[in-house]
Amino acid sequence: MTISAEAFRFVAELVRAESAIVLDAGKEYLVESRLSPLARAAGAPDVNAYVGDVAKRRTPTALAAVVEALTTNETSWFRDADPFATLQNRILPTLAAARGGQRIRVWCAACSSGQEPYSVAITALETPQLAGTSVEVIGTDLSQEMLARARAAEYSQLEINRGLPAATLVKHFERSGIGWRVRPSVAATVSFRPLNLIRPFPAMGRFDVIFLRNVLIYFDAQTKRDILTRVRKVLAPDGVLFLGAAEMLTGIDDGWERLSGERSSIYRVRSDADAEARTPLRTGAA
Ligand SMILES: C[S@@+](CC[C@H](N)C(=O)[O-])C[C@H]1O[C@@H](n2cnc3c(N)ncnc32)[C@H](O)[C@@H]1O
Repeated sequence: MTISAEAFRFVAELVRAESAIVLDAGKEYLVESRLSPLARAAGAPDVNAYVGDVAKRRTPTALAAVVEALTTNETSWFRDADPFATLQNRILPTLAAARGGQRIRVWCAACSSGQEPYSVAITALETPQLAGTSVEVIGTDLSQEMLARARAAEYSQLEINRGLPAATLVKHFERSGIGWRVRPSVAATVSFRPLNLIRPFPAMGRFDVIFLRNVLIYFDAQTKRDILTRVRKVLAPDGVLFLGAAEMLTGIDDGWERLSGERSSIYRVRSDADAEARTPLRTGAA
């Protein structure tokens, strides 16, 4: 079966309106494969019939299920390694010195099933310069299903194998059936809440570090710009923004400058010369 043009158009428009994820022509196969399990579960004969029914009824639950099914939740522990090394060796020690014992706040703005915020929390616990400084990590995502998984903090051996060093597993996880659970000492520093990046952000206070990794890639340029403008407003003047390994802001938003001497895509808010003097984090051209 191939998804009909009408069903594809309905799904693409719905997903764009509710999440900003762009499903261009050519993504028919993706839509069909992601919606097939939902169609089966709903007892629909095929995806076209299922989409037709969702379009007719328009119940918030069914619409949200379609949008969630089209999110890509790919993630892993300490993804790309380098950003977490920089967080531990440069960013957190600098912030700890600048904050003088005040709590450091981190936002993982598209946290999927939780590996990223827990990796941040573990990194903070393993940063000696943070002794005596508490770190709060907030993970948010559009997907309620992913947030439920993140809150449960339980991972299969297969998921654990994706990037978690053995020593970290032993130290920060405990057995849970045939899988593993994040220890309370780590989980206590992390909380999760729903947040759609294309809607106005709820009041969450100011963050010292924001992870916005591997999510902007799904949006068009205007949406990226809009999100980045609002992200700038909730980032401390000497705070930093982490993007995905291949993501860059050149030509998208001039309000940022890349941290010098780093291979990872790490940015801070660009301001004027006196801001350079104010902050202890040096920057360089992208
Ligand atoms: C590929 S994952 C990235 C996970 C993690 N940041 C990483 O780099 O490993 C992208 C996540 O973005 C979320 N997402 C997509 N559109 C979103 C939106 N409009 N608002 C919030 N989250 C969104 C998806 O649900 C998904 O969990």
